[in-house]
Amino acid sequence: MSSTIDHAKCVLVIGATSGIGRHLALALANLPSRPTVIAAGRRVERLKELETTNGLKTAQIDVAADGKVLKETVDGLIAQYPDLDAVVIASGIQYQFDFLKPETINLDNVAREFNVNYIAVVTLISLFMPHFLKLSEQGRPSFVIPITSGLALMPFPTVPNYSASKAALRSFSISLRDQLKDTKVKVIEILPPLVESELHDEQGTTPMLSKFWMPLDEYTEKTMAGLRKGDEQVAVGTADVVLKRFKGLDTSFQTALTFGDK
Ligand SMILES: NC(=O)c1ccc[n+]([C@@H]2O[C@H](COP(=O)([O-])OP(=O)(O)OC[C@H]3O[C@@H](n4cnc5c(N)ncnc54)[C@H](OP(=O)(O)O)[C@@H]3O)[C@@H](O)[C@H]2O)c1
Repeated sequence: MSSTIDHAKCVLVIGATSGIGRHLALALANLPSRPTVIAAGRRVERLKELETTNGLKTAQIDVAADGKVLKETVDGLIAQYPDLDAVVIASGIQYQFDFLKPETINLDNVAREFNVNYIAVVTLISLFMPHFLKLSEQGRPSFVIPITSGLALMPFPTVPNYSASKAALRSFSISLRDQLKDTKVKVIEILPPLVESELHDEQGTTPMLSKFWMPLDEYTEKTMAGLRKGDEQVAVGTADVVLKRFKGLDTSFQTALTFGDK
């Protein structure tokens, strides 16, 4: 029987101070196996609230910190929580860019968005990998769970760099899953549709988007069902509709490798 998140003993959720990450952290803590859940993010007050009101463990992490700081953070967490066997990476930011008004394009934000949404995620995964591979050698499953987006499959033009960062992360996740296929490290990609959160607050589009988004409770319930079932790609709502259209383009590497061998 393949392992699912129900087997996790200790889950780190990075980006758990609001939105999808917060709801998933709380839902994961309520799994029948009652795993230890560590909520992480930058906002200390919100972490404190998760600790005192909800009984979660917490860690302050800025995923945009440099590699040395991130390595110290990851090593510290593994030392403190040797049973850590799942990491959900829900940290993410989004900016709009209008290339018809090139003078308005803030290139620092382009780099910041790609770093938080892609480079930092790859960095974190690489830092956790020695620990997860060690668990695998001991016969223990572990779970790497990046959050991409339905926009990884079909970009939304007003957020071109965000869409590209999520497409990059999806592509990376598919390759990673293939590289790890003979280990007990599972890569599970979560692809949300438009969901109630704080992601769009800075852009001022929350009031408009809130007319269309999926409420967090509904989204969390559906995503937890996919995670518990053992799906490798957990897509909900419109993201699931688009993913099904891509099903013909199997993400298995067999085809590409066979083709490459010819
Ligand atoms: N909501 C949607 O419609 C939607 C759709 C598809 C995909 N997603 C993806 O789902 C994930 C969760 O987003 P959300 O919608 O729940 O947005 P959100 O409410 O804005 O939550 C984003 C989380 O990321 C954290 N974060 C941002 N920058 C960070 C940094 N430098 N270091 C550490 N944590 C950082 C924030 O915590 P702090 O500010 O405390 O650090 C917050 O907890 C993101 O990857 C997003 O791209 C969302």
